[in-house]
Amino acid sequence: MIGTFKKWVSGSTTEQVLSEQEMYEQIQKHPVPEHIGIIMDGNGRWAKKRGLPRTAGHAAGMKRVRETIRIANDLGIKALTLYSFSTENFKRPKEEVEYLMKLPIEFLRTDLQELVDRNVKVQMLGDKEKTPSYTQSALREFEVQTEHNTGMILNFAISYGSRDEILQAIREIIEEVEKGNIDKDQITEQVMSDHLLTRGIPDPDLIIRSSGEIRISNFLLWQLAYSELWFTEELWPDFSKKVFYQAILDFQKRNRRYGAV
Ligand code: IPE
Ligand code: IPE
Ligand code: MG
Repeated sequence: MIGTFKKWVSGSTTEQVLSEQEMYEQIQKHPVPEHIGIIMDGNGRWAKKRGLPRTAGHAAGMKRVRETIRIANDLGIKALTLYSFSTENFKRPKEEVEYLMKLPIEFLRTDLQELVDRNVKVQMLGDKEKTPSYTQSALREFEVQTEHNTGMILNFAISYGSRDEILQAIREIIEEVEKGNIDKDQITEQVMSDHLLTRGIPDPDLIIRSSGEIRISNFLLWQLAYSELWFTEELWPDFSKKVFYQAILDFQKRNRRYGAV
């Protein structure tokens, strides 16, 4: 039963058969997704399994963030969006929220230079007003230091909620209509997309979620209309290079029809 579930979840038949190098070579034979979104879930359960505090899971998760960015960049992915903290995550204990919100400060110290060297452009997606000022400053520093980079776009979705984002876009569009800049009949899908935080970035081709949860949890609801979804039971701190490669290999085998035959 579990075996069947796993197979269905990953949609994979080549799992664990190929070596890392073979998987990499296989991936090179076909186009890679341009934009990948990842719901990085399972840090708490990873820590619990080891009798550690949840924060230890988040620390381990941050190491995986670093590795994942490197892998995506080496594969030539154009945009990577990492769901790091949702608007709903503010419901967690104050200490945990604070720990998570301080991770960008640490990440700035340890990883800024590498991201600059890799020509990665870092952006924050989310509600700045809900975000503590120290987190905003660290993210701002990333944005300023990588502003002119032309390589992979790295979006950190922090204090991000897709419904929030959609409501904000609606408010902006109504304002445009009221000012007479645009007629209500001229509100197209493109107009909507242009008012979202992801404006200018193509919709995600592939959404990955770790930890075995099969849900979206308020992530990129508008943008994922035609994304391929890929779920794994691995907890985020265990999300290895092989698992990431497998997601991309499976994506490459999918037949995207967009409603056509
Ligand atoms: C993902 O791990 C990190 C965030 C949502 C911030 P969780 O903290 O949700 O881990 P679980 O789901 O409790 O295992
Ligand atoms: C989704 O994970 C949000 C992030 C990964 C940042 P959650 O752990 O918050 O999602 P639910 O509560 O299980 O839906
Ligand atoms: Mg979770």
